[in-house]
Amino acid sequence: MSKYMQLFQGTSFSSKSPTEIQILRDYLYCINADGMIERIVAPEDADYQSLLDTYQGSDNFHRLEEGQFFLPGFVDLHVHAPQWAQSGTALDIPLYDWLNTYTFPLESKFSDLDFAQQVYEDVVSTLLANGTTTALYFATVHKEASLRLAEICASKGQRGLVGKVVMDDPAQNPDFYRDADTPTALADTEEFIIAVQELAKTTKQGVYPVVTPRFIPSCTDEGLRGLGELAAKYDTYVQSHCSESDWAHGHVKDRFQKNDAFALHDFGLLRDKSVMAHCNFLEDSDAELFAETGTAIAHCPISNAYFANSVLPVAHLHAKDVEIGLGSDISGGFSPSLFDNIRQAVISSRMLEDGVNTALSAETRGVKDARITIHEAFYLATAGGGESLSLPIGRIQEQYAWDVQAIDTRVPSAKLPIFDEHEDLQDVFQKIMYLARPEHIREVWVQGEQVHSR
Ligand code: GUN
Ligand code: FE
Repeated sequence: MSKYMQLFQGTSFSSKSPTEIQILRDYLYCINADGMIERIVAPEDADYQSLLDTYQGSDNFHRLEEGQFFLPGFVDLHVHAPQWAQSGTALDIPLYDWLNTYTFPLESKFSDLDFAQQVYEDVVSTLLANGTTTALYFATVHKEASLRLAEICASKGQRGLVGKVVMDDPAQNPDFYRDADTPTALADTEEFIIAVQELAKTTKQGVYPVVTPRFIPSCTDEGLRGLGELAAKYDTYVQSHCSESDWAHGHVKDRFQKNDAFALHDFGLLRDKSVMAHCNFLEDSDAELFAETGTAIAHCPISNAYFANSVLPVAHLHAKDVEIGLGSDISGGFSPSLFDNIRQAVISSRMLEDGVNTALSAETRGVKDARITIHEAFYLATAGGGESLSLPIGRIQEQYAWDVQAIDTRVPSAKLPIFDEHEDLQDVFQKIMYLARPEHIREVWVQGEQVHSR
């Protein structure tokens, strides 16, 4: 009888550090019954050949073909699952108007469970097909539909972290889309947490409840305080939006005479398991509070180009030891692909460094040392996301989950421009980062189970 559940053979790319990748050429990956990488075996290791002899030819042996590579599955730290229904549209007006004109009316439709089922099935399948093996989701204010999203993640095999959104302030939210009142918002959240924790027991990959005040402007003080208490009582994840745009950042300053970060902290909402979206307007003292509390940033570079009035200074925040991962922010960001967001993270950082207004001199136009490399952006989408969630994911390394995507650079309809079969693997990696599309993602695995193939 074989010792491992699965044995994979092939070349993998994974982050060694934020700036460097590890390339394992033709290694073996030994996956145990829990879907964890129990051993990684180099071709020069003593038992490489005997392991191959044992597993080759059996159903649980998988060898990549020439031109195929393993990458860690992506960790998307910020997705509004209901907004998938408007992705690619409605990007013509600022955040406040966008929420009221398009987004709240759309999200209000998720009181209809059939509609929710249809959109949520599609967004989870689409993210898996784009290589996203773990996703941190905002659902809507509706408890039942939010639970449905968690059930769909559970059944499709995605590691979903799901929040029922809280918007309990009647003065700030439309009557057609908000919690009935603060006690109901808190009771629904508590019931939701308990239900998802029960559901989690039936899954291999895990699903997790997330305490989710939409953002400070949509919540009462009492609601925010109650949510902080629930997060502590059930030791849950927390997510929200923080200091995203001029308007959102200014709104909180006017209300509390302090920045979002400190206001959220006052309500017990900054924890090691907290992930805050955007954070473009963080000041250094806010960043230090994030580092102290273990709060992570979900950087959403495509969305930021539309709604954040700014570019996140990723390099500066990394230097301050803040954990950062990447988010698609569907549908503020139009793309379900973290490859697209990796590219935008690099592009935006370079525009921040150089500056964009040629009316200014070159010396005064930009922000020094702001650029990040493609390796750093890849780190954000994988290992950085895993660290942000404190889960053993996002790296191809022993004791990490077998959450991977198999990339085929030779798909006939979309061959990558690799003309030398001995091309340096560092260059192959960069071509994958810049040019890969969903059709290159042949297989996706989560916790040792195949969840997508094409
Ligand atoms: N702030 C509050 N809600 C939202 C949302 O749905 N998307 C974005 N980008 N920002 C928000
Ligand atoms: Fe968002």
